[in-house]
Amino acid sequence: MSHGRLAGKTAFLTAAGQGIGHATALAFHREGAKVFASDVNAALMDKLSAEAPGITTLVVDARDTASVNAAAQQVGAVDVLFNCAGFVHHGTILETSEQDWDLSFDLNCKSLWRVLRAFLPGMIERGGGSIVNMSSAAQTIKAAPNRALYASTKAAVAALTKSVAVDFVKQGIRSNCICPGTVQSPSLEDRIKAMPGTYDENRAAFVARQPMGRIAEPEEIAMLAVYLASDESGFTTGTESVIDGGWSL
Ligand SMILES: NC(=O)c1ccc[n+]([C@@H]2O[C@H](COP(=O)([O-])OP(=O)(O)OC[C@H]3O[C@@H](n4cnc5c(N)ncnc54)[C@H](O)[C@@H]3O)[C@@H](O)[C@H]2O)c1
Repeated sequence: MSHGRLAGKTAFLTAAGQGIGHATALAFHREGAKVFASDVNAALMDKLSAEAPGITTLVVDARDTASVNAAAQQVGAVDVLFNCAGFVHHGTILETSEQDWDLSFDLNCKSLWRVLRAFLPGMIERGGGSIVNMSSAAQTIKAAPNRALYASTKAAVAALTKSVAVDFVKQGIRSNCICPGTVQSPSLEDRIKAMPGTYDENRAAFVARQPMGRIAEPEEIAMLAVYLASDESGFTTGTESVIDGGWSL
């Protein structure tokens, strides 16, 4: 049900093809925003266009500066940015190659640098806006096994979130990040299937991480993103919003 919580706002999202980004694009649209949803996967963007014709979809590679800059040209000034692109590398530091390190930092962190540099000037000119970045509880909030590289990138996301918050607070820019525990998504399914052991055992291990005894639905993260994007959170900036079913307690 829509309450028009984002009425009159224009939003741009990365990684909106599936999982949390997809749920958030739909939630922003439901709440009355003019939504520009992007993903590197063209087939997923076609699917989203069919599902919600009111959403404008774009194929954008968050790892490609020219692609992000072209999107900013096409979209123009926005009130809300949702930086969702990210990838989970599995393994200890001894199981990371230099290529793994570069890819994860490029996709999970440098993509924010690209999007912010492309869209922030327009947002400032417009008089302000809200930036919502996708971090994770698996960073300095909670050490998780086999997440050495992933956690490093998501801690960097939190640091960048706070730097932007402090640098642009006087220009009406708010910058916050979301730090989820385990969330149901296609890539979570891939991670469960890639682990040794049975599907059921592996899934149970992910469920057991959360004292609430379940995995979050992407829509639950989307509703936090709606709050942070909306004027309801107008006094909130520079925060790490933990939404993890009690995992980090
Ligand atoms: N699922 C979880 O348990 C969980 C927990 C905490 C944080 N997160 C973070 O949430 C974000 C979304 O994860 P998810 O699991 O909901 O979705 P997902 O991993 O299933 O989907 C990721 C999406 O990103 C897109 N993508 C990949 N490379 C891209 C690129 N170069 N440019 C643009 N888009 C690209 C893919 O096409 C896909 O649609 C990630 O940043 C992830 O780290 C997820």
